[in-house]
Amino acid sequence: MSEQERVPDSIDAGTPNVARMYDFYLGGKDNYEVDREMARQVMRHVPDLPFIARENRAFLRRAVRACVDAGVRQFVDLGAGLPTQGNVHEIAQGAAPGSRVVYVDIDPVVLSHARALLMNVDGVTTIQGDVRRPDEILAHPELRDLIDFREPVAVLMVAVLHFVQDDDDPYGVVARLRAEMAPGSHLVISHITADKQTPTVRDAARIYDRASAAVRQRSQAEVTRFFEGMELIEPGVTTLSLWRPDADLGPPADADRQWALAGVGRMP
Ligand SMILES: C[S@@+](CC[C@H](N)C(=O)[O-])C[C@H]1O[C@@H](n2cnc3c(N)ncnc32)[C@H](O)[C@@H]1O
Repeated sequence: MSEQERVPDSIDAGTPNVARMYDFYLGGKDNYEVDREMARQVMRHVPDLPFIARENRAFLRRAVRACVDAGVRQFVDLGAGLPTQGNVHEIAQGAAPGSRVVYVDIDPVVLSHARALLMNVDGVTTIQGDVRRPDEILAHPELRDLIDFREPVAVLMVAVLHFVQDDDDPYGVVARLRAEMAPGSHLVISHITADKQTPTVRDAARIYDRASAAVRQRSQAEVTRFFEGMELIEPGVTTLSLWRPDADLGPPADADRQWALAGVGRMP
């Protein structure tokens, strides 16, 4: 988006927005100067952020393929983000035609872009929802039309739970979602970690206090707790690039440069 472009009244273009900052890290065009300015500030502390964002997307692709391989044909992508390359429906439907996908995001910009892009794609819908209010998401009629919770479902919470503060009961949110998931369902999580927290990373995270959502980094033990009652599939909760790396793409990217964790749980 250029600054000349008209900003719809419904969009708050004055506050740096976490969805659009992430789009900027990924090299996308759906961001404003206010987002780019804050993203550059963060990157002054952590120049590797674009690399981490790309590794996060690569994890998402591998995790969706693993869910398809496990027989899952329905996906709920919470905090889906702006459409980019290798969206969940492209991976899932590419591997298993007929797979159904519901994208959920709090952000109206995400919603309008996703709706425009996906208008004519069968088996895919986008709804507005706040992960902190799982009951509202689960009761949404468009989600209920597409997703049958009596069958296995993959619930994706990729790079979104770190925007849920402790006061908003992230473990209660995930427990509510897990309660709905039939045996054979999968929970996919990636999360900014506190384990490698250096003053630099801490400073970078604090910059988000002035964005549309603040960041709460969590340790490996804290991230693992989200999978309570599930079987963590191999290799457990790891750095992004170490989660089932594609053997044909060479050695996994440098784990020391990534301050994010990833894991997939299976409902027994
Ligand atoms: C870093 S992006 C991740 C996008 C995508 N899941 C990925 O990993 O590539 C985080 C997304 O979560 C969304 N988000 C943040 N807080 C949210 C909330 N409370 N409910 C729903 N979505 C939220 C943001 O709007 C943004 O699109």
